[in-house]
Amino acid sequence: MSIRYPVYMPEMHGNEKKYVNDCLDSSWISSRGKYVSAFEEHFADYLGIEHATAVNNGTVAIHVALLALGIGPDDEVIVPTLTYVATVNPIRYVGATPVFADCDKTYWQIDPEDVKRKINPKTKAVIAVHLYGHPSPMEELVEICTQNKIFLIEDCAESLGSTYKGKHTGTFGDIAAFSFFGNKTITTGEGGMVVSNSKATIEKAASLKNQGISSEIQYWHVIIGYNYRMTNICAAIGLAQLENINPIIKQKARVAETYKSLFLNSGIHIQPQHPDVFHSYWMCSFLLPQNINRDHFRAYLEEFGVESRPVFYPVYTLPMYEVYAQGMSFQNSDEISRRGITLPSYPSLSYDDITFIVNKVLDYIKQYE
Ligand SMILES: Cc1ncc(COP(=O)(O)O)c(C=O)c1O
Repeated sequence: MSIRYPVYMPEMHGNEKKYVNDCLDSSWISSRGKYVSAFEEHFADYLGIEHATAVNNGTVAIHVALLALGIGPDDEVIVPTLTYVATVNPIRYVGATPVFADCDKTYWQIDPEDVKRKINPKTKAVIAVHLYGHPSPMEELVEICTQNKIFLIEDCAESLGSTYKGKHTGTFGDIAAFSFFGNKTITTGEGGMVVSNSKATIEKAASLKNQGISSEIQYWHVIIGYNYRMTNICAAIGLAQLENINPIIKQKARVAETYKSLFLNSGIHIQPQHPDVFHSYWMCSFLLPQNINRDHFRAYLEEFGVESRPVFYPVYTLPMYEVYAQGMSFQNSDEISRRGITLPSYPSLSYDDITFIVNKVLDYIKQYE
């Protein structure tokens, strides 16, 4: 059966077409043009941070963040093993070594106690990933990083709109990276943003994304850089998306609340929300009962046109990263990854759509438990 309920679909009901047509009409379609700086400024204002520079995806945002902090060969970077592989790959791009940490079993975020255990003289940074949109425990992580004089990087690819004690994710660390892939809370098709309160750090990031260009002398290049620039067209879409971020987040909260109420007492548990945070529920993810065969379950849902996704495989289990986890165990990540599932989470899902999906899930549980 064809997919009736995809896991995600972006909302495009604002000024997207108007701004993109403006780019086409004016012929400012490449990475120069008014929408790039407008998007950067509005994005920084929305977060409550000083500086932002737009890039062409979230993976390069993390790459640029590591380079801007001077992280390289011989350095170790502590990173949760339960994350998307794109958090870890850039650590290898700069020649540094990923050191995996487990997550806590309730909220699925990097475990500060495991971070503490893994710090050593080679540790240069910790990457906090706000997984599935739930903020990481930022107070503890800021304290650990400050005490140990190491950098804190936030991977906010999934957490735009989420707050920890009232402050946006992305405003706690030395630098943060966002993604605007098509399934993200706001999208530019492909795109990303690097943000920081440090002007020097964002100036370095802006130079790195633009072939290492000098900020003082035109057409002069002072470091080996990259072409990681965002186009004016993508920024035009991003600006229009940002204008609608509050209704998008409100709809996502409604979707999560509807799932919660319909799954009440069913044995299916949504990733919970810590009392100190606002969870923007990038994707509504759930723990299935112990005995469910997840592949069979996903195939069953697909018969009814319901797409689902398994929760990420812990990165240490992927062939190129096994070598970095010799002798280590990650029990919570293993368990959440084994039982976790993501169900359709797009903002326009109606109450009836969610009821249909939940009923199919519950039918399966009754049939196969
Ligand atoms: C946690 C995390 N980090 C990084 C990325 C990379 O973003 P992108 O796909 O824009 O490169 C993603 C998104 O896909 C992600 O979910």
